[in-house]
Amino acid sequence: MKRQLGQTDVFFPAPAALIVGGTIEEADVATIAWIGMLSSTPPIVGVSFDNRRYTLELIRRTREFTVNIPSADHYKETDFCGLISGRDTNKFIKAGLTPIAASRIKTPIIRECPFNLECKIVQEFQLGDYLLIMGEIVETHIDEDKVNFVNNRPQIDISKINPLVYCATVREYWSLGKKLGNAFQSGMDLLNQ
Ligand SMILES: Cc1cc2nc3c(=O)[nH]c(=O)nc-3n(C[C@H](O)[C@H](O)[C@H](O)COP(=O)(O)O)c2cc1C
Repeated sequence: MKRQLGQTDVFFPAPAALIVGGTIEEADVATIAWIGMLSSTPPIVGVSFDNRRYTLELIRRTREFTVNIPSADHYKETDFCGLISGRDTNKFIKAGLTPIAASRIKTPIIRECPFNLECKIVQEFQLGDYLLIMGEIVETHIDEDKVNFVNNRPQIDISKINPLVYCATVREYWSLGKKLGNAFQSGMDLLNQ
C-alpha cells in the first residue's frame, strides 16, 4: 500500500551546499539544498534561489558564484548560514568560515569546505517563486589530503570528504553510510542473470 502526500516539494537526499556570491571585499553565503548537476559538457550546475536571498543579489551583480560542499562535521555552521541573512550579519565570521581567493573568478571559495566549484552564470530561469541560475563550472578545487593517486591519476576519496547530506522533508542532516558498489557496474549482475 502507498499513501499519497499530495503536491509536495519532498525530495531526498540532497546536498546542503554553501553558495557564495560577491567578492572577497563583500561576500555572502547561503545554505542551498535545491541544487544539481545539469550537464556534463560543458559542466553546468543549477542552483535554485528564493528571489529574496542576499547571496543571490550579490551573485547577479558579478554573474559568478561558488559552490562549496561542507563535510558532515560542519553541519551546525551550514545550518547557521541558512538561518539568517547576510544583509546585516557577516556569516563567515560568525560561523568561523574563511573566504579565500578562487582562481578563475572574483567570488571566493570557502577554505573549510573540502570541495569547491567556481561557476559563471550562463542562464537564469524563473520557476514559481524561485530563480534557477545555471552556472558553467570553470574550475574545481579539492583539499589535497582528500585525493588518492591511482596510476598517477587523482581520484576523489569520498570517505575523506565525508559530505554533508540533507533530507528535506524531515529537515535532518545526515552523513553518508557505507559504500555499496560501483555505478555503471553493479547493475551488470542483473544483466547477466
Ligand atoms: C538546509 C537548508 C536548505 C536551504 N535551501 C535553500 C534553497 O535551496 N534555496 C533558497 O533560496 N534558500 C534555501 N535555504 C534558505 C537560505 O539558506 C536562507 O534563507 C539564508 O538565510 C539566505 O541568506 P542570505 O539572505 O544571506 O542569502 C535553505 C536553508 C537551509 C537551512
